[in-house]
Amino acid sequence: MSESEKTPSPHPPPARGGGVDPGPELPLPLREGGGGREWRPLCLLADLPDGGSTSFPPPPGSFTGLFAVRQGGAVFVYVNSCPHIGTPLDWVPGRFLSADGSRIICATHGAEFRITDGECLRGPCFGDRLEPVMIQIKDGVVFVPQVAQ
Ligand code: FES
Repeated sequence: MSESEKTPSPHPPPARGGGVDPGPELPLPLREGGGGREWRPLCLLADLPDGGSTSFPPPPGSFTGLFAVRQGGAVFVYVNSCPHIGTPLDWVPGRFLSADGSRIICATHGAEFRITDGECLRGPCFGDRLEPVMIQIKDGVVFVPQVAQ
């Protein structure tokens, strides 16, 4: 296992729209040593198309859900809630990116966010940020904290 696979990243990769069915092949949740944070499998890295975005519905009892954007080996995951008024960002399920794939766009009022850190660069929530979700990638599986919704 490489060092990068052990270190949680504040962000994971993008896909080209559409939700990902986690499927039965995902492994069991991880637990960091010493009673640390629990991680749940989000998807296979291979399920995230490079240069695109993917949505993940909220777990039962939750409201917002998550989305991921992959850029090469980097994966960025955020809570699917716009900092402006809290609506989901995707204009079609799983579609979050501008036509050129360079920014995250909110479907409600068109705010534009930087993919790498979620900062709003244009729109009514200028300067605010999307809520990032830490990830770790292990053996080709993207994990997020168990509490991430
Ligand atoms: S809800 Fe996203 S810009 Fe208004």
